[in-house]
Amino acid sequence: MNWSDKRVLVTGGTSFIGSHLTDSLMERGASVRVVDNLSSGKLEYMQAQIEAGSVEFLEGDLLDQSTVRGAVEGMDIVFHLAADHGGRGYVDLHQAACASNLALDGMVFLACKEAGVEKVVYASSGCVYPNFKQTDPTEVLYLTEDMVRAPFDADNMYGWAKLMAEMTLQAYCREWGMKAASCRYFTVYGERGKEDHAVTAMIARAFIRQNPFEVWGNGEQVRNWTYVGDIVEGTILAAEKIDDGTAVNLGTMERTRVIDAVKEVLLYTGHTAEIVFRPDMPTGPLNRVADNSLASHLLGWEPKMKFMDGLHQTIDWYFSTKDRELIGVSLGAQLTER
Ligand SMILES: NC(=O)c1ccc[n+]([C@@H]2O[C@H](COP(=O)([O-])OP(=O)(O)OC[C@H]3O[C@@H](n4cnc5c(N)ncnc54)[C@H](O)[C@@H]3O)[C@@H](O)[C@H]2O)c1
Repeated sequence: MNWSDKRVLVTGGTSFIGSHLTDSLMERGASVRVVDNLSSGKLEYMQAQIEAGSVEFLEGDLLDQSTVRGAVEGMDIVFHLAADHGGRGYVDLHQAACASNLALDGMVFLACKEAGVEKVVYASSGCVYPNFKQTDPTEVLYLTEDMVRAPFDADNMYGWAKLMAEMTLQAYCREWGMKAASCRYFTVYGERGKEDHAVTAMIARAFIRQNPFEVWGNGEQVRNWTYVGDIVEGTILAAEKIDDGTAVNLGTMERTRVIDAVKEVLLYTGHTAEIVFRPDMPTGPLNRVADNSLASHLLGWEPKMKFMDGLHQTIDWYFSTKDRELIGVSLGAQLTER
């Protein structure tokens, strides 16, 4: 695809993933507009580009009809990332707030259709997969896209809204001829990541030299943390190659236990601490790892970053940019808020 003749909108473009996506689309020559209400996004990630006039920034709430209509007007492709979303502590404990995504996604998609947007690329999630499949951390399980079928059992209101959005886009493709793709992101980490997600939380605990060092659950939970640069590459490939609303996993097939990631964080940062488990805190499913063969087949996508390399790189970024005193006072709230 020739990005230099595309006008693209990134909703939620000042977020962790959204800001990296915006950078990447600009590098490809696209003309980029961002809309964000800054509820969890950070303007500083694109302040320089806004001042230079290389990105158009609209501050506004997409739950407001005139904002959403204005934002999509004149766009060829819309990357929809705006969401009421946070880490495990947030999505488990704020179901009502996450339910607003049903309205938000519906309004964005309808406005896109009315404005004649050519394609919508949606930031979906591993949270659409049935919880009942992900209960045994000892099982070597890789989630394939076709496992999202009846009986559905998505992860919290957050996961149900992602699932409804995928299905809405598929109906738009079938019945209204719109083009769309959904990317199921799996536990993304990397530079600009926030403390409400597990990897950044572990790094933040080491940064403030937490002792005893808390681990939510028993540490046996298995995840496939996926580097943000790989997620951005996959999302852009999905925009280029998927038209029919197909949902595709973007996640590594590396299986890592929470406790092993914690031990590596402690080792790499040189922090010695007693580990205490918090089984009373939210853990999410015990075994969540993607199968990425569909992404490989449809997009030619494979994650390039190995988890241990990406973890070290993220620790280096965190330690060189954060203020220890500030994180010390704010971390408790950041773990369950957004
Ligand atoms: N981080 C992950 O591991 C992960 C995993 C799966 C899916 N996702 C999805 O990727 C997207 C980006 O997530 P993220 O982790 O980068 O950060 P995030 O959750 O902070 O991003 C959401 C962005 O949307 C903005 N926003 C929220 N409500 C809005 C509204 N009503 N109007 C306008 N803007 C609004 C926020 O300010 C923020 O910039 C989200 O859709 C999220 O659900 C993220």
